[in-house]
Formats: sequence, structure tokens, C-alpha cells
Amino acid sequence: MSKPTDNNTMSAGGVTRQTFLRAAVGGAGVVYAAGLAYPVYRYVASPVEKAAKESAVTEVTLKDAQKLAPGSALMFKFGSRPSMLIHHDDGTWTALTAVCTHLGCTVHYQEDKKRIHCACHGGVYDPKTGANVSGPPPKPLKRYEVKVTDAGVIISRSQDRA
Ligand code: FES
Repeated sequence: MSKPTDNNTMSAGGVTRQTFLRAAVGGAGVVYAAGLAYPVYRYVASPVEKAAKESAVTEVTLKDAQKLAPGSALMFKFGSRPSMLIHHDDGTWTALTAVCTHLGCTVHYQEDKKRIHCACHGGVYDPKTGANVSGPPPKPLKRYEVKVTDAGVIISRSQDRA
């Protein structure tokens, strides 16, 4: 008749059952901690990665955008940032970020009211300067440099307003 084995019996490879269980529990703990830490890392790293991508883009060319009708606007992305190009009735151009400075909603140009509006909380911006004129936005929209050519409109980051 064979004798029952205890929990610390050596296996053929020289690892006790207790050592194996400790390693298994430790490994599971590491996997669990990594599973919890990864979303936190993504949450923290995301704005940093986004900012790095943003700063890498210094210029965007919008082909054929010179044909944009006066009094209208065109949404585009500057890097990953929603932005807008406005061709004013007087023939001048403005390019601005379209990210509300209040809580980050995307703003839109309202042609009929000649204003930039944020539907989230009613913020209003001046379409020529990007200045915050009413509602909760605390700061103006950032402006880009605009150069109109025969092939398109070149939007570039302002030197003084990076
Ligand atoms: S997010 Fe634009 S007004 Fe609040």
C-alpha cells in the first residue's frame, strides 16, 4: 500500500507543489496588475502622445481649398486636431483650431450668424480672431497662419502661438 504524499512533495523536476503554487499565484498577480495598469497608462500617456504628434505637424496643405466660397468654412484636421478654415465675405481667410477652450468640444462655424459656436454649452467665438466673445470658454481659439496659393491653402502653425 502506498503512503499519501504531503503538499511539499518534490516532483520529478525538483519543484515542490508549494513553490509551484506560489509562482502561479505570483504570475497571476503580475498579469492582473498589468491588466489594471495598462488602461491607466493609456489614459495618462494619451495626451502626451497626442501632444507629440501635434507638435510634429507644422503645416497642412488643403488642395483646392482656395475655391472655398466666401462666407463659408471648411473643417480639416491639423495633425489629429479638428480645425477650420474660414473664407470671409471680405475675401480674408482665417484658420483656427476647432477645439473649444472650455471642455474640448468641437466648435462649428455658423454661416448665417457669422460666428463660431460651441453646441456643448453655448460658447461663442469671433470667426476672424478666434476670440472668446460669450459663454463659458475661458480662452480664444488658437490661430494658424494661412497662405492662399493657386493649388490650395497652406495652413501652418503660428510661430508665436504654437
Ligand atoms: S465645451 Fe464649448 S462651451 Fe463648453
